[in-house]
Amino acid sequence: MTAQAQAAETPWRRGRFDTRVAAQRLLFGHMYEDVAIEARAFPPGGQVFCIASAGDTALALAEHHRVVAVDINPVQLAYAQTRLDGAAARTGTAERLMGFGRSLLPLAGWHRARVKEFLGFDSAPAQLAFWHAHLDTWRFRAGVDLLLSVTGLRRVYASPFLSVLPPHFGAVMRARMERCFTHHPNATNPYARALLLGDFPPARAPRQAVELVCADAAEYLEAAPAGSFDGFTLSNVLDGAPSVYRTRLLAAVRRAAKPAAPLVLRSFGEPLQPATRNVARDDRSMLWGSVEVTDAASTA
Ligand SMILES: C[S@@+](CC[C@H](N)C(=O)[O-])C[C@H]1O[C@@H](n2cnc3c(N)ncnc32)[C@H](O)[C@@H]1O
Repeated sequence: MTAQAQAAETPWRRGRFDTRVAAQRLLFGHMYEDVAIEARAFPPGGQVFCIASAGDTALALAEHHRVVAVDINPVQLAYAQTRLDGAAARTGTAERLMGFGRSLLPLAGWHRARVKEFLGFDSAPAQLAFWHAHLDTWRFRAGVDLLLSVTGLRRVYASPFLSVLPPHFGAVMRARMERCFTHHPNATNPYARALLLGDFPPARAPRQAVELVCADAAEYLEAAPAGSFDGFTLSNVLDGAPSVYRTRLLAAVRRAAKPAAPLVLRSFGEPLQPATRNVARDDRSMLWGSVEVTDAASTA
């Protein structure tokens, strides 16, 4: 690989969160991205491009689109294939880490029955009052801030993945949670249940076949016919990637886009500028700082 190609590489190719040179892993047993965002952004029909990850977005998009789902990590792609074939979900590194965090919650007064009661609310003002009265305890705040401190995260994540995180990430994440509880009733939010209890809805069978490809998204799109996709959703693949990779991927998206094709791009970072197109508040998975919906042809 030339030095130039190496500079345009992404750390996701390692298939691990840490820096060890070792086998790629199953990182995500589920996806934490609210596919209702894509459902609203993509006009029905046509061919769309997504990141395979754990397969949830591909499965949902296949209801109304022809889907090409790409992943750079062969372990993750093989897993997405099993889920599209109807196999049960498995636990990846992300679920193990979140499970560890949840195992500490009783120390903050979060007992399962109380969390279940919270998740049953179908009114945002009522659940917010419950949140402040019973769950947003000082122990919860201190615990989240400690777990999500740079020192805590460094034990697990390589530095490129951390570079995108805003300072005081624990407080930022707690604010994102509260933003979600302020706008989305828990009873109709499967992502709240998944995050707080680790309970996931059963996956559905795809309505039509999904084309799964093991590839780097930029490489794949550079080789795809120009003007061949009606929509793109890129997960948060640019978190941790160098700016030269960003430039390369977005150029490939522009080339492969049909006129007016939307692009959805998430990030754990805060929006770079006050973004009018940031719909992070609408994403019921609550984790994201930025969920940009833009015109793929004019993205930069
Ligand atoms: C970016 S991660 C984030 C996961 C996501 N937040 C979720 O909820 O599933 C999702 C997947 O993107 C894949 N990935 C990262 N960069 C990629 C790239 N440049 N091309 C293709 N796949 C990529 C990873 O291997 C991983 O399986």
